[in-house]
Amino acid sequence: MKEFKNVCILDHPLIRHKLAILRNKNTDTKQFRELVKEIATLMAYESFKDVPTQEIEIETPLEKTTQTIVKENSIAIVPILRAGLGMVDGILSLFPAAKVGHIGLYRNEETLEPEEYYCKLPQNIEEKVVMVVDPMLATGGSACDAISMLKKRGCKNIKLMCVIAAPEGVRKVASAHPDVTIYISTLDRCLNEHGYILPGLGDAGDRIFGTK
Ligand code: PRP
Ligand code: URA
Repeated sequence: MKEFKNVCILDHPLIRHKLAILRNKNTDTKQFRELVKEIATLMAYESFKDVPTQEIEIETPLEKTTQTIVKENSIAIVPILRAGLGMVDGILSLFPAAKVGHIGLYRNEETLEPEEYYCKLPQNIEEKVVMVVDPMLATGGSACDAISMLKKRGCKNIKLMCVIAAPEGVRKVASAHPDVTIYISTLDRCLNEHGYILPGLGDAGDRIFGTK
């Protein structure tokens, strides 16, 4: 992925450890959910390095000082439903005042094209740093559509965070949206004939919500 300057692989032994358990088909729903949330927190720590900040005056027990705090109101998290919901609480644990929007897309299982069914976004989202979250970046169709929907609403500062990505999906989003930084924790091998990531972890939405 060296050809794309806007792709950032957040490789860390702790994330790899959690990913190994996440991928295991014997990992149950409860643990799967916890792991998705924890990985999202670890990824957020790194991917919000350039978060907007402001200087404030405070007083320690000894003297007045100027300190830096995060402008939490400048952040919006936008999960792609359903599976993206699994990442939201992990990011909110670091940025509790962030606003949350929702974009509902599902992949048509025959065409693999995303179909939109819901969109509710925070007010003034165009002024915020928007982090689109989805555990899986497969063909890239869902992420591309979600980003285009946000751009139509005027958003200019958009990032994408996905736990597992296929090269096909990264290429599609990186070339369609070169202004969007894509954070992933691992780049898997390829997609199978049904558009599933290999080795992957199966269907993220079904594993988070226990629907299969
Ligand atoms: C999954 C996943 C992504 C999408 C990725 O959602 O959570 O949104 O597929 O595939 P793509 O990159 O090829 O678009 P799915 O459509 O299965 O819906 P769900 O989250 O409701 O299960
Ligand atoms: N969506 C998933 O949940 N898993 C995949 O491997 C591909 C798309």
